[in-house]
Amino acid sequence: MTNQQELELYQIKMLFNQPAATAAFPEWLQPRQTKAVQHFHQSLPQYQPTPLLTLPRLAAEGGVQAVLIKNEAERFGLNAFKALGSSWAIARLLAERLGLNPETVRLADLTQPENRSRLAAEKIAFCTATDGNHGRGVAWAAKLLDCPCHIYLPAGAEPERVQAIAQLGAEVITTELSYDDTVVLARKQAEAHGWLLVQDTTLPGYTEIPKLIIQGYSTMATEIMAQLQQQKLPTPTHIFLQAGVGSMAGGMLAFLAQAMAQSAQPRPKFIILEPKQVNCCYLAAQSGNPAASVPGVQQTIMAGLNCGTPCSVVMPLLQAQADCFMACPDFVAAHGMRLANNPQAATAQAPFISGESGAVALGAIALLLQRPEMAQAREILNINAHSVMLGINTEGAMAPSVWQKIVKEGACPLP
Ligand SMILES: Cc1ncc(COP(=O)(O)O)c(C=O)c1O
Repeated sequence: MTNQQELELYQIKMLFNQPAATAAFPEWLQPRQTKAVQHFHQSLPQYQPTPLLTLPRLAAEGGVQAVLIKNEAERFGLNAFKALGSSWAIARLLAERLGLNPETVRLADLTQPENRSRLAAEKIAFCTATDGNHGRGVAWAAKLLDCPCHIYLPAGAEPERVQAIAQLGAEVITTELSYDDTVVLARKQAEAHGWLLVQDTTLPGYTEIPKLIIQGYSTMATEIMAQLQQQKLPTPTHIFLQAGVGSMAGGMLAFLAQAMAQSAQPRPKFIILEPKQVNCCYLAAQSGNPAASVPGVQQTIMAGLNCGTPCSVVMPLLQAQADCFMACPDFVAAHGMRLANNPQAATAQAPFISGESGAVALGAIALLLQRPEMAQAREILNINAHSVMLGINTEGAMAPSVWQKIVKEGACPLP
């Protein structure tokens, strides 16, 4: 591809991309889709907007106007943003079955006694593959609806992640497969048993449910836009989004870019973050092949981002619209975890808990601002005294023993 530049700075690989001048987003990612989503989420137990934190010390040290972190570790008491997607997809699927209006559906509609009886009579059950957070979200939604649920996990799944899902009453099946192969297995099992597959990525002939899941993530964007106003914060100029399969990143890019355009704000730069060993979106953008993949079982502490194949309904959008892809060694995430938890070094009004996949956003922002080795990247990305950096802490400590080793015992240090 022309108009791309690749650099390796401080062991971080960076692919700078020239986004297409005019942003065209498909119908299913248009802002009008987000109203019904938020209306439904507001009906869920423990719904409240997750905090948008400001990190003034890091901003001052890094010479930028502001650093903001949306803290999804506080979402629904589940420690991650993921249930936003699965709960909305499940609500839409069931609304269709029960003949309810998808524009206005709320949890109470789905759980009315006669609807519960219908779901039981039709033996509605859910199934998915997950590296932890998505499965927990599906299991949580299934429990709210009293429906059985079957969750498949790939090789190397942390026992604490497995337990968190099992505690919600789901059947949990651990495998020795890669994430991609686990997704294929879950689909086969769902077909064999008549379960509804609620997968957060696409498969051949399976794109509509992933689209609903991505729409579900829009509540984060809706809340961010409201919080920027309420908290009188400056508009983000650089937005950092983690990618496993890229569903969250693609959706958030679309919703935030359009929301900012609607309120006549300049378009921010979007920076996509992946583990260095499993950088499928990076490779897809670089090669121009949206199905580029990283085969086999890969090791990274960022379990939620350990996915080998991009989601087909958003990868073309990321390729056309993202400004930069960063392939991050594990130490980037570990740095973010420690910074989030360190009230002196850091950073926020108060320390917060950030897990491996969530912390790579703060880690990447901090290293971009702090390290002399990153000067060239700062220049290319136009990071200066007016810049406002926004990242999402997509998870808290999902595996507390891993968090302990990294944050308290200093595992995975900076080089
Ligand atoms: C904590 C966390 N952050 C980010 C992501 C990335 O989401 P996606 O797979 O949609 O790219 C995941 C995916 O599971 C996750 O668990």
